[in-house]
Amino acid sequence: MISSEVECLARTGGLGDVVDALSTTLGRRDASVIVVTPKYGTTRMPPTTRWPSAVPARHGWAPHDVRDVGVLEVTGDLARHRRLCLLDDPPLFDRGGIYGDARGTFGDNDLRFAVLSRAALEVAGRAWDGGPDVIHAHDWHAAFAVLYARLTMGVAWSQVPVVFTLHNIAFQGVLGADAIDRLAIGREAFVPEVLEQMGRVNLVKGATALADRITTVSPTHAREICTPAFGFGLDGHLTAHAHRLTGILNGIDVERFDPRADGALARVYDERTLRVGKDRCKQALSEELGLTPGSGPLFGVVSRLTWQKGIDLLEPLVHDLVGRGARLAVVGQGDPTLERALLDLAARFPGRVATRIAFDPPLSRRVYAASDFFLVPSRFEPCGLTQMYAMRYGAIPIVADVGGLHDTVTPLTDGGETGSGFVFSSGDVVGLGRALGDALELFDAPEARERAARRLMQRDFSWDEPARQYEALYAAIAPRIS
Ligand code: GLC
Repeated sequence: MISSEVECLARTGGLGDVVDALSTTLGRRDASVIVVTPKYGTTRMPPTTRWPSAVPARHGWAPHDVRDVGVLEVTGDLARHRRLCLLDDPPLFDRGGIYGDARGTFGDNDLRFAVLSRAALEVAGRAWDGGPDVIHAHDWHAAFAVLYARLTMGVAWSQVPVVFTLHNIAFQGVLGADAIDRLAIGREAFVPEVLEQMGRVNLVKGATALADRITTVSPTHAREICTPAFGFGLDGHLTAHAHRLTGILNGIDVERFDPRADGALARVYDERTLRVGKDRCKQALSEELGLTPGSGPLFGVVSRLTWQKGIDLLEPLVHDLVGRGARLAVVGQGDPTLERALLDLAARFPGRVATRIAFDPPLSRRVYAASDFFLVPSRFEPCGLTQMYAMRYGAIPIVADVGGLHDTVTPLTDGGETGSGFVFSSGDVVGLGRALGDALELFDAPEARERAARRLMQRDFSWDEPARQYEALYAAIAPRIS
């Protein structure tokens, strides 16, 4: 597996969670998995051993366009058959961020991830006699691996089965045409059927054209990306390849996200102790964030603050929401304009709205635990993990009816006796307002609300079933896997 993020080492979002948890689950189920990722300046370093020799990573056609990349392997990884390899190339990776730092996005990300991809294949070639059974590349950063294996590394590599997973099609790795030679991509691929899009190189287009299987992270999103509204310009291309495209719903790490054992909480709780547990966690979070304590409902948001996530849709509704006794806790970071708008909201409604601009996993879990309702108003959402985390902590989700949100949250009916949350059409502020009103109404029916929350806590969001589906997918394309 090749990924720019792995949760236990360095991550900014769901990609890291998924690669870490999926590879761990596969490793526990006896698959031999190697995950290759860079060693960034910000990587949380576990104990490692260094491979005796570096691996060469060709990134251009000139004789000297080869880097020697060190390989560090994590020792004592708990997942039996999973190995984690970190690529050590300080000039490229030893920086204060994954994709950028305080000064902005790095200008050489194409080179950085080309080297990640090429070196990852070299690692796989050395770790297994005869090379890997399957290459599983995640998002545009690893799309280079699909291109290199298929086009430039010889016959044996060109035949290794490849799975390419799209976590977020909004990021496609679009580069100038000069990237073809500069980054040693096969020229024959610079055609509209493969890499070329309006005179430029589109890495995701190329990887999806050449992979044996394309996956995205929910069945609904797999259908959505074949339509103009959600295809980000690749809908026609993906429709042509739809026979190789499937959606496998993400799971979540049910050990790390477990209100029964979560050390970050003021009080752990299970289905039976939900009421006291949530009350205690709500009180503690209110103190932590400076919210006025009270008996009204708490709405939580944990999110990357980007246009995709639709958090801005809340703004016109907050006045009414807090007027009806609710409080709102927001934790996230991202787009500076959105960050400012959310800080302004907190200043306008002191004690009622709290905003923390942070990427803070323990605080995020305290928000899931304390919240009665959890908001995910995304404009598009390939899968979304936070709604599942929230349900596991007994917070009722309020979500836009898109992608993986559609696949994980069904509308509550029968006064809350069936279904799992409140659902509205994506981008529809009036619909969101209505959903908030419905949530307030359910809050006033504590028995029904608690029954609904308990039901959510019992759902199985583990990786067992998704991992089985990936295994079946690998077996379908790789003769050496049975
Ligand atoms: C991206 C998507 C999100 C998905 C995650 C993991 O962050 O935006 O919907 O859950 O990847 O696959």
